[in-house]
Amino acid sequence: MPDSYIQKLFAERIGGNQYGKTQAIYKFEKIKRAKRAAMALHPAGEIIDLGVGEPDEMAFPEVVAKLSEEAKKPENRGYADNGDVILKQAAARYLDRVCGVKGINPETEVLHSIGSKAALSILPAALINPGDYVLMTTPGYPVFGTHAKYYGGQVHNLPLLEERQFLPDLKSVPAQVLEKAKVLVLNYPNNPTGASATPQFFADVVEFAKKRNLVVIHDAAYAALVFEGKPLSFLATPGAKDVGLELHSASKSFNMTGWRCGFVAGNELLVKAYGDVKDNTDSGQFLAVQHATAYALDHPEITQNIATKYSGRMNTLVAILNKAGFKAKKPKGSFFLYVQAPRAAVTRGGQRLEFKNAEEVSQWLITEQLISTVPWDDAGHYLRFSVTFVARNLSDESRILAEIEQRLGEVKFEF
Ligand SMILES: Cc1ncc(COP(=O)(O)O)c(C=O)c1O
Repeated sequence: MPDSYIQKLFAERIGGNQYGKTQAIYKFEKIKRAKRAAMALHPAGEIIDLGVGEPDEMAFPEVVAKLSEEAKKPENRGYADNGDVILKQAAARYLDRVCGVKGINPETEVLHSIGSKAALSILPAALINPGDYVLMTTPGYPVFGTHAKYYGGQVHNLPLLEERQFLPDLKSVPAQVLEKAKVLVLNYPNNPTGASATPQFFADVVEFAKKRNLVVIHDAAYAALVFEGKPLSFLATPGAKDVGLELHSASKSFNMTGWRCGFVAGNELLVKAYGDVKDNTDSGQFLAVQHATAYALDHPEITQNIATKYSGRMNTLVAILNKAGFKAKKPKGSFFLYVQAPRAAVTRGGQRLEFKNAEEVSQWLITEQLISTVPWDDAGHYLRFSVTFVARNLSDESRILAEIEQRLGEVKFEF
């Protein structure tokens, strides 16, 4: 069939007239296909999905009840635009109470987002001119960089390496990149490495940003999911408000991924610019969702509850992986366990397979052991195991963990 004229109209940023014609299959599609193939081969088998990047449970009943109550109020029905004060005030209280960030002005230094992803896609419009550089960590969540490139910006990747506790080496940025760099995007606790930042690292970031006139965007999507101590906010760093913003989200902290609500907080001028672009992008999240999110923010024990569950699962998974030969170390937060991928595996039947990268390991684990993980080959070769697998109850959770142990125990991994 000849191409329709529409094929010729696509913008270069999504592939121009070649849009949709590439044969390349992306990582997550490969995982989906491998799962489908494994199920076709073993119709009675159970795939254990440790690749999921979102909570396995619903929002807490009291938050759902609040949504229901707020959804019935006629005054909440219309366009929310940049929101009312309820979420802003709850966000300022939350930052103070949960993260120890004092003095955030809810009127001028906070604005809601339709999730962090939406904020990350809006902010480049406020900051990026053609030729500007963004410093991004890799592996990582690419949304800010993707949109920066849409605006003609360029991305300089900072590898996250185990020997540096998965913190980027700020000194490694070449001078010619620094000259054109405008934004540094960070994310801690980090997806996919599970690593946490330190107060010293954040202090270094503030110093670096001031010296190099950079804006810092800290994506704190997993901030409150910590297994020990208090969540570490970038905004708790002296001077942070002079250089940047922090993005919080109800998605992971309150099991509210589908609800699409979070907030942006920090530098007043940046918040204002975010709001101006946002006003031209969306019409705000439903006020009932915002108010239910505000309720959740006032109940941080919900997040502690969720984190306790992940922490317990994490303890067992770390032990299982170490028994199978991996070098797993429990992260301080998030729900991700990031471990070096094996170079080879010897099956119980004595067959030895060598893997070129983590992607091959992940594909093999799905097909042969019915265990799904996410491979990362961006800086070394790693597998990401997520403890958000679905279990019907505690005994089902134990059964699944025992099943993982048994399946991995059938293999001898070489590293
Ligand atoms: C690092 C990171 N940032 C942002 C998001 C998106 O979060 P939200 O649901 O708030 O848009 C995700 C989701 O997976 C993430 O991993």
